Amino acid sequence: MKKIISILCFCLLLMFYYSCSKSNETTQQNPPPGNNPPPGACDTVNMQYAAHIAPLIQTNCFSCHSTANMAISGISLEGYANLKARVDDGKLLGTITHAAGFSPMPKGLPKLSDCNINRIRGWINRGAPNN
Ligand code: HEC
Repeated sequence: MKKIISILCFCLLLMFYYSCSKSNETTQQNPPPGNNPPPGACDTVNMQYAAHIAPLIQTNCFSCHSTANMAISGISLEGYANLKARVDDGKLLGTITHAAGFSPMPKGLPKLSDCNINRIRGWINRGAPNN
């Protein structure tokens, strides 16, 4: 009888240990989408509006700057023409790099990753094409 109880205890301990180590695995925080490309892979060459820049702006800025949400901020960054206007007046790069004299964006949230800032910068340096 004693043997059975100790085996049962051992099993319970094992189960307990197992469930704990499992839950540790799943508590790892997932990075926000679009703001954390895989480490070591930051492609800033040949950035295209439709394929790279628009999705990045959508993920990080549309909560306040889509045309539907622009009541929050007064500014829409949705669509090429709206974004290009902010490229031309220097506010896109100024706000995301937290440069002096600009309102830091995304407002109240962590700065974009260096990689994403460099991707936008790369696109602007090539003349911010609508491609
Ligand atoms: C949580 C809401 C929020 C998010 C997310 C956000 N913004 Fe803004 N943004 C605002 C508000 C509010 C204003 C107007 C007040 C101000 O300038 O602080 C603004 C203003 C701006 C302006 C105009 C600044 C000026 O000087 O006229 C630009 C450009 C801008 N945002 C770019 C961005 C970009 C790019 C992103 C994404 C990387 C972003 N914002 C994310 C809320 C937000």
